[in-house]
Amino acid sequence: MIMLMIYKRIVIYLTMTVGIYFATTTGKTEDIADRLHDLLANSDSPKDLADLSDVNEFLNHDGIICGIPTWNTGADSERSGTAWDALLEDIGSLNMTGKKVAIFGLGDSSTYTENFCDAIEELHSYFKKAGASMVGYVSKDSYTFDESKSVIGNMFCGLPLDEDSESDLTDQRLSEWADQLKAEIIGL
Ligand SMILES: Cc1cc2nc3c(=O)[nH]c(=O)nc-3n(C[C@H](O)[C@H](O)[C@H](O)COP(=O)(O)O)c2cc1C
Repeated sequence: MIMLMIYKRIVIYLTMTVGIYFATTTGKTEDIADRLHDLLANSDSPKDLADLSDVNEFLNHDGIICGIPTWNTGADSERSGTAWDALLEDIGSLNMTGKKVAIFGLGDSSTYTENFCDAIEELHSYFKKAGASMVGYVSKDSYTFDESKSVIGNMFCGLPLDEDSESDLTDQRLSEWADQLKAEIIGL
């Protein structure tokens, strides 16, 4: 009986899939998606939103990891300025109950210190609306910035990365986050 339960758990683990999706303007979010994929051997290869035909594809996965830069400085809506913006309403209409979603964001905490990685929270709100279980939150304590819409309480509701002003910190932030996701998303 115990062997059967262990076997079932292994089968579930082996059949779970985790997708990585990103949008980018100058390539930094794509680069991070590739580096994250290297750290998460069991995730699917990163996919550019430009190659996504339908948001229903997200439902094929048990978990998804989304990469989103912030370009639309200070905007309340469509903060990313990338292909994510056009998908937000469709994402909010999905039924993602039981699925795990984590978000990483690219920004610049020095030049855009009043709006650091604002787009994370907007995407987070639509996946939450879809019923997804949101994971991958990180403490804001190790970041230097003035304001971010992506801070909820004392946490960022995803992983902010800054390849413009703090690229020397990216490897460690990414590797710690990968370990965190392995604990939070079954199948990774
Ligand atoms: C015109 C412009 C506006 C930007 N606005 C913001 C912003 O509001 N907040 C932020 O954190 N970063 C901002 N950034 C920095 C970008 O988000 C950052 O360079 C990011 O790494 C770009 O990712 P990508 O190469 O994947 O498009 C801005 C950069 C530019 C050039």
